[in-house]
Amino acid sequence: MKKVITYGTFDLFHEGHYNILKRAKELGDYLIVGVTSDNYDKSRGKLNVKQSLVERIENVKKSGFADEIIVEEYLGQKIEDIKKYNVDVFVIGSDWYGKFDYLNEFCEVIYLERTKGISSTKLRNSERGILNIGCVGAGRIAKRMIAESKFVSGINFDYVYGRNEEKIKKFAEDNYLSGYTTSYDELLNKVDAVYIATPHPTHYEYVKKAILSKKHVLCEKPMTLSASQTKELFELAKANDVVLYEAIKTSYSPAFKRLIPFAKSGVIGNIKDVDATFTKLLSDYSLREFDPNQGGGSVNELITYPLIAIFKLLGTKYENIDFFTCIGKTNVDEYSKVVLKYKDSVATASVGIGVKKDGNLTISGTKGYIFVPAPWWKTEFFEVNFEDQSLNEKYYYKFNGDGLRYELTDFYMSIVNKKDNIVVDEEESIAIARVIEQFNQYLNEKINNKL
Ligand code: CTP
Repeated sequence: MKKVITYGTFDLFHEGHYNILKRAKELGDYLIVGVTSDNYDKSRGKLNVKQSLVERIENVKKSGFADEIIVEEYLGQKIEDIKKYNVDVFVIGSDWYGKFDYLNEFCEVIYLERTKGISSTKLRNSERGILNIGCVGAGRIAKRMIAESKFVSGINFDYVYGRNEEKIKKFAEDNYLSGYTTSYDELLNKVDAVYIATPHPTHYEYVKKAILSKKHVLCEKPMTLSASQTKELFELAKANDVVLYEAIKTSYSPAFKRLIPFAKSGVIGNIKDVDATFTKLLSDYSLREFDPNQGGGSVNELITYPLIAIFKLLGTKYENIDFFTCIGKTNVDEYSKVVLKYKDSVATASVGIGVKKDGNLTISGTKGYIFVPAPWWKTEFFEVNFEDQSLNEKYYYKFNGDGLRYELTDFYMSIVNKKDNIVVDEEESIAIARVIEQFNQYLNEKINNKL
C-alpha cells in the first residue's frame, strides 16, 4: 500500500485545499493529513488563523479524501511522522518549493502546483476587511510597531501623523508608508484605527479625539497619567462602540498568557508575594525619559510592566501603597520601588532608568515559587520550583520578534470579534494610572520639600 502524507492549517477550507488533497490522494492508496495545532501555528508566527483546530480537522474530514488525520504540533514532527506511519510520498503545495527537500532522505517529496488566486489569508482579509491603522507619532516605538505589523495579516499602517513635517516625511519614506500629515483630523479621516505613540502626557487628548471620531485606539502605555482620565477614555470608548487597548506588550505574549492562569491554578499554593523588576539603564540626558515635561522618569516609563503582572496575579484591590524613590538631576525618578500591600499578600515593583537591577519576576506561594528570568517582560520561559527539587519544572513558549505583533493581533481580533478578546481590561488600566498618579504626587511633594 502506497502511503501519502500532506500538511496544512486548512483554515476556512477553500478550493486550493480541496485540489491539493484530491491530487495527493490520487498519488497513492492511503492519505494522511497533518493539521497544525493552534499553538504550533502561533509559534511559527501564523497569528490570525480564524478557525479552531477542531473546526479545521472537520474541514479536512468533510473533503472525504483523508484516510487518517493527525495533528502537527512541533517543528521536526514531519520526519517522525514519515517514519512512524511508513510514508512513501510527502506532498505539499508549490509555495513551499525546495523547503522540504530535506525529507527526501526519508521518502519521495512532491511539490504540487498551488491553485492560483485563493488562500486562507485572502479569505480572512476579504471576510474581515483590512484594518487601516494610522500612526500617531514617529519615534522609536512607532518604528518598531510598523516593522512588527508586517507579521500580522489583516492590518495595514498607511499614514503617519506628527507635528514636525520633516521628521514624519522621513518616517513615512523609511517605513514605506503611503503618506504623512501634520493634521490629526486629516489622519482620522483616512484610517479605521490609530496607534498612539507620542509622549505620555499627550495621549489623553489624542485618544479622546480618536474615540469621538469613532476610531479604534491602540495606545502606548501608560495610557494616561491619571486614573480619572483613563476611566473617562474607557467610558467614551464604550459609548462610541470602539475598542480601546493599552499597549502593554507583555500581557499579549503567549507565555505570559499561560503564566498567569498557571500561577493562579494553585500549583504554588496561595500566592503571597509578587516581586517584579524592570530597569532600562539610560545615559543620554537629552532623551524624553529624563524630561519631566514629557512624562519622563522610571515609574511613568516602566511601571506598567510590573503592575500588569501584579494586578493580573493579585487583583487591583490592594489596601496600601508605599513608594521609595531616587530623584535624578533632571528631577525625574531614576529608580523607584512601589510596594503594594494586599489583605493577605504583598507585591513589589522596582523600576529604574538610572539603576540597574535584575529583571526578574518571582511569584511566591505557600507550596513553591515561579521564577521568570530577565527579561521577564518578554516572557518566553518560566520555571516552577518546590522544596523538593525533583518536582521542579520548566516551561517554554516562543516569543517572536519583539512581541508587538501579539498585541497588534489581539487588537485586530478584538475589533473583528466585537471586543470579546480584551487582554488588559479597563479595571487594570485604571489601577495602573492610579498608581502612576499617586506616585507623581509623592514625587512632586518630595521635590518641593527638597527645594
Ligand atoms: N494550497 C494550494 N493552493 C492554494 C492554497 C493552499 O495548493 N491556493 C496548499 C498549500 O500549498 C498547502 C496546503 O494547501 O500544501 C495547506 O495550505 P494552508 O497553509 O492551510 O493554506 P493557505 O491558503 O496557503 O493558508 P494561508 O493563506 O493562511 O497561508
